[in-house]
Amino acid sequence: MNFEYTEEQEMIRQTARDYAQRELIKDVLERDAKAEFPTEHIKKLSELGFMGMLVDPQYDGTGFDTVSYVLALEEISKVDSSVAVIISVNNSLVAYGLEKYGTEEQKETYLKPLARGDQIGAFLLSEPEAGSDATMQRTTAVKDGDYYILNGVKNWITSANSASIYLVIAQTDPSLGHKGITAFIVEKNSPGITLGPHEDKMGMRSSDTHSVMFNDAKVPAKNILGEVGMGFKIAMKTLEGGRIGIASQALGIASGAYELAAKYAKERKAFGKEIIKHQGVAFKLADMATEIDAARFLCLRAAWLKDQGKPFGIESAMAKLYAAETAMKVTTEAVQIHGGYGYVKEYHVERLMREAKLTQIYEGTSEIQQIIISRAIDEKFS
Ligand code: CAA
Repeated sequence: MNFEYTEEQEMIRQTARDYAQRELIKDVLERDAKAEFPTEHIKKLSELGFMGMLVDPQYDGTGFDTVSYVLALEEISKVDSSVAVIISVNNSLVAYGLEKYGTEEQKETYLKPLARGDQIGAFLLSEPEAGSDATMQRTTAVKDGDYYILNGVKNWITSANSASIYLVIAQTDPSLGHKGITAFIVEKNSPGITLGPHEDKMGMRSSDTHSVMFNDAKVPAKNILGEVGMGFKIAMKTLEGGRIGIASQALGIASGAYELAAKYAKERKAFGKEIIKHQGVAFKLADMATEIDAARFLCLRAAWLKDQGKPFGIESAMAKLYAAETAMKVTTEAVQIHGGYGYVKEYHVERLMREAKLTQIYEGTSEIQQIIISRAIDEKFS
């Protein structure tokens, strides 16, 4: 066991921290209020290599390890988790799939621009009637010569408008159930693709979320990712890594709120002393610090396993479950410690609380993580 970061991991953490604390903080409240996409920040973070953090340098990525990814996403999410989800979806849900399952031609055409941050990726799995129950895909892809014709609707798509490369999961043979599902790389500007209105979300307001409609959209057969019928497995494998990203985001939301609450508790006085000296507040901070550390270790363990090439699906589900629940609890307590100030936007903790909620929902709800973990327990003891 070694609980120390390498020099490179520490340097990446510090770079992310500096950028978040100096740059993202300046306009995060305004972007939240206006639900404005962080275009300039994504450009700068691409220059720093964050949009292709996990991609091999051979494909224009920075090739950092997953432990560094956890550290960077935590630091960014302390300030702006909308930026973190854009980075996470690009790296873990789209670039990962292309790098692992794509042909050399697909990597050249689609992975490289994603890794450089010249283009952004989106992952299209969820549908109006297929959220948690992801096998129930209604979007169809019907073969027509050298093309597939896509019809259907995808819901809650992160970066739907800003992305230009979509990874779309669709049903190629409904009679085969999940074994008839296929993954496609789709260019957003293809004819037959339209977007629903910008979703007016509770939190993570500056990441753009839309429905995407496919109406006889024509996709070249050479854009199939992996093989026909492999799509559900690709989606599940991809989500295993995605959940490390969202767990790290939840961790960052929690630790950001905790740092603000601790600083406030040192400054604010009541009944003749700093409120941190009151046991009611001090014990809340003690619980927050302990639970945040536990969440961080779960994230780092899942990341380490992934970096070692070992199975990490159950561990990433545990990390996401625990970090998301911790984020919700810690941000709620951070608002409580701030009292009335916590309920206004200027102090940031109310926004962090709104953002925490989404980490319990997307990339598999907390209940889905419990299904994944409990099925593994069932199997282990059978
Ligand atoms: N790796 C590889 N294969 C897997 C797998 C994994 N992690 N999990 C399941 N599979 C395979 C199974 O082995 C099975 O294949 P076989 O029949 O060949 O054995 C097949 O997939 C079906 O598995 P299950 O019977 O376990 O499927 P299920 O219907 O019971 O559901 C589930 C499994 C884990 C609950 C899955 O439906 C799930 O993860 N649901 C949540 C979906 C989700 O996370 N959506 C998030 C949307 S993306 C998003 O939010 C992105 C964003 O923009 C931020």
